[in-house]
Amino acid sequence: GRVAVLLGGTSSEREVSLDSGRNVIEALRARGVNAIAVDGIPALALALVEKRFDRVFNILHGHNGGGEDGIVQGLMEAFGVPYTGSGVLGSALGMDKIRTKQVWLSLGLPTPQYRKVDSTNVHALAAELGLPVVVKPANEGSSVGISRVTDEAGLDEAVALAARYDGQLLMEQMVVGDELTVGILGDQALPSIRIVPKGQWYDYNAKYIAEDTQYLCPGLEGDDEAEIRRIALAAFRAAGCRGWGRVDVMRDRNSGAFYLLEVNTAPGMTSHSLVPKAAGQAGIGFEELVWRVLEQTLP
Ligand code: DAL
Ligand code: MG
Repeated sequence: GRVAVLLGGTSSEREVSLDSGRNVIEALRARGVNAIAVDGIPALALALVEKRFDRVFNILHGHNGGGEDGIVQGLMEAFGVPYTGSGVLGSALGMDKIRTKQVWLSLGLPTPQYRKVDSTNVHALAAELGLPVVVKPANEGSSVGISRVTDEAGLDEAVALAARYDGQLLMEQMVVGDELTVGILGDQALPSIRIVPKGQWYDYNAKYIAEDTQYLCPGLEGDDEAEIRRIALAAFRAAGCRGWGRVDVMRDRNSGAFYLLEVNTAPGMTSHSLVPKAAGQAGIGFEELVWRVLEQTLP
C-alpha cells in the first residue's frame, strides 16, 4: 500500500521534522515501501479526502501545525486511516508538560516539583521551589523556549522567552545531575542514553547542530539501568502513549533518584537523534526501526 510520511508542518520544530521525515522516507523506500512525503496537516487532510494513502507514518513534530498534539490523530481516526504512534489522548497529554506531570504525580511516578507560571509574582514562585529552576513553555519541543535560571536576575528574561510561545508556562526545580532518555519501541524500553553535551546544556544547538555532544548507551549499568527502563515504560503507559516514543529523565547527582521530565510521542529521527541511537545499541538498525514502527499500523 501507499504510505504518507507526514512531516514538516508549521510548528517551531518544522526543520527538525523535515530532517526526520527525509530519513524515514529513505528507510521505507529501501525496504520497498511506496512512501511519499506529505507536508503538514492541510495537505494530509486533502490526501485523506482523495484516499491517496493506506496508512500514515507520522513524523510531524510539535504542536501548532505539528502532528504531536492529538489534532491530526483525531483527523486520521475520523478517516479510519491507520497511523504510527500514539493516539489522540496520549498525543494531547504528551504535548502538555504540566498535565503529564499531574498524571505522573497522581500515580506516584517521580517528576520534579513545579509551579504553573501565571500572573502571580514569578520571584515568589522561584522562592517556593528554590533556585536553580528551569522555565519552559508547557507545549514546545526540542528545548525551544527553555531557560535554566541559577540566579534571580535571570528570572524575568526566562519567563519572557518562554512566554513567546503560546500555552502555559511552567517553572520546575532543576535536577542537578545526569540527563538521560529512554526510547520506547512497542512494549519494550530500549537501552537508556546518557547525554553529555560539550556546553553546559543539551539545548537546541547541542541536539541538532553541534557534533561534540557525547552519547553514552546504555547510559547506566545493572539495577540502575533496569530501574530507569522500568519507570520510563510506566511513565509512557501512564500518559496513554503507544507504539513508540521517548521519555526524558534526569538523575540527581547526589541522591541517584530519577525524575521524569516529559514524554515525546513523535521523537526525532535525525542523524543526531536519540531513539535511533538506542535502537542501534539494541541491535535494531535505522531501517529496521522505521519498519517496526510502520509495522504497528499493519492489521
Ligand atoms: N521533539 C524532538 C523532535 C524530539 O523529542 O526528539
Ligand atoms: Mg520534548
